[in-house]
Parts: sequence; structure tokens; C-alpha cells
Amino acid sequence: MFPDVRLRRLRKGKIRNLVCETTLSVNDLVQPIFVDEAINFPVEISSMPGIYKFPLSEVAKEAKEISELGIPAVLLFGVPAFKDEYGYSSFGETDVVQEAIRRIKAELEDKLVVITDVCMCEYTSHGHCGIIDFETEDLMNDQTLEILRKIAVSHARAGADIVAPSGMIDGMVGAIRGALDLNGFNNVPIMSYAAKYCSSFYGPFRDAAQSCCSFGDRSTNQMDPANSNEAIREVALDVAEGADIIMVKPALPYLDIVYRVKTEFGVPTAAYNVSGEYSMLKAATSNGWLDEKKAIYEVLISIKRAGADVIITYFAKDAACILK
Ligand code: PBG
Repeated sequence: MFPDVRLRRLRKGKIRNLVCETTLSVNDLVQPIFVDEAINFPVEISSMPGIYKFPLSEVAKEAKEISELGIPAVLLFGVPAFKDEYGYSSFGETDVVQEAIRRIKAELEDKLVVITDVCMCEYTSHGHCGIIDFETEDLMNDQTLEILRKIAVSHARAGADIVAPSGMIDGMVGAIRGALDLNGFNNVPIMSYAAKYCSSFYGPFRDAAQSCCSFGDRSTNQMDPANSNEAIREVALDVAEGADIIMVKPALPYLDIVYRVKTEFGVPTAAYNVSGEYSMLKAATSNGWLDEKKAIYEVLISIKRAGADVIITYFAKDAACILK
């Protein structure tokens, strides 16, 4: 008890560093990249200042820049030139993500881990994450699995190092694992968006990917923000189906879930610091209301402290510079 115990004794100078419990490393970070098939030069996303969509011709250059900062991985999102009801431009050999993977791999080979988002919402004209029954407006779960299998295999074939299914479709991890194995990709890991909440914080991403739902919303597949036990059930299923890395998304409003998942399962855990979390902080720092470098560090260290091994963040490049 005080005065024998004085916790302030350890808070000074280098002693503070010595007793620091959590460290953020550039090795923890994943930088998302948007690749847009329909543009010829980088286009800044208006709701995400500082984040660009890249044309295929510039994606390898951007990946190289990321890699040279020491960031080990990127997460690729494709914006196709054409969208249709069935998301058919998602799994072709020459579609946008497949092409982007090949260009990055040709430039960087094993120097950069290429993770790909496996979902239909960027490719469907209605913006839903699967095939829709237009009479009932329901998402047809099992038919969607067929397309997800094709997308994952096409990404692996193009050279993806990790595939990351993000649609919260029941059975997606097992279906993809089966398809990858059947095609000789048994060594390609799956990073599953296992506990993905139905969040308002995806807004800027949907601007970027032009993937807003034209009717309804994603609440039939994404989780209710009020639930925590359900996240544990989701993660348990994905681990059982063969997920190698599980993800909680968004990060900041769900740090309790990151902590619970890491504590209960002890599996490699990723947290996605999503577009809206980026935009929120950017809005404040660009007004001079927050110190940008300090705020970025504090956000990322808190995600790490909660238990994340991997942090997917639009601040990865900034953080890599800050950590240098
Ligand atoms: C696709 C997907 C989304 C995000 C990642 N993968 C959009 C969504 O679910 O609406 C959001 C990422 C972000 O907001 O940064 N299913």
C-alpha cells in the first residue's frame, strides 16, 4: 500500500520502456489496397483522405512502396469495371484481383504476403455478399458458397498467399478449404472474417468499392453489435472448419471481442481497423483536434494490447514510418 508502493516510480525515462508490456511492430501490420479496373491513374477516396484506389498499372509500384517500408502483407480489394447480379467478374483468370496478384508477385515474389478479400459484394450489381433470390430478397447461402469456392481457387491460382473470406456466409470456411485442397492448394491459409459485425464503420469502404446495397442491408449475414457470445460461436465454427487466422472486425468498438476470442481460443487473431475508424481519426487530425502520430500509435497499440496478432489498418504505411 501507499506510501510503500508508488507506481509512479516506474513511469520515468528509460525505466518506463523497460516495463512496457506491449510492443507494436511493423511486422504486425497489413495495408489494404484497392485496385480499380476502370481507372488509369490513382484516385483518392474522398471519405478516406490519403487513401487511393489504384489502377492495375500502378498496383505493383504501390505494393513495392509498402514492402520497402517493412510492412509484411497487403490485403487486396478489387473494384471491377462491370458488376452483375451474380458477381461473375469475381473469379475469372483475368479479373481485377487475379491480375493484381500476378503483377505484385511478378515484382516482389515472396517479399510481400498477398492476402485477398473473398466476397461477392464488390462484384454484384445489388451490393449483397451473395446470390439473391429476387422474389424473397434473401441471400441464398449455399448457392453463394459455390461462387466463393471459385473465387478462392482463382486467387490461389493467381498466386495469393492467404485468402480471406469476408461475407459471413455460413459454411464459407469449410467450403473454401475443401475447394483449395481439391485443387492442390492445401498450403494456402484461410484468414476468416469470423466475427464481423453489421457496422456503420464500413461506410467509406463502400464508397470506395461502390458496394452499397441497392436494397436491404447486410444484417442477415453480419453480426448484431450487441452480441458477444455469438462471436465465440462463430469463431469456434470457423476454427473447426479449418480457419488458420480468425478476424474480428471492426476493431476499436469490438476490442472486448478481440480479447475474448484471443483468450478463449489462443489462435492467431487479426483485428481490422476499418475504413470508418480511419476516416473518423483523419477528420479529427486534419482539423488539428488530435495529434495524428500519437493518435495512430495509441489506436494500434490498444488493438495489440487487446490480443490482436495481426492488425489490418489503412494507417499501416503511416505507422511503419512512425515506428522507424
Ligand atoms: C467485403 C468487405 C467489407 C469490408 C471488408 N470486406 C465491406 C462490408 O462488409 O460492407 C469493410 C472494410 C472497411 O470498412 O475498411 N465484404
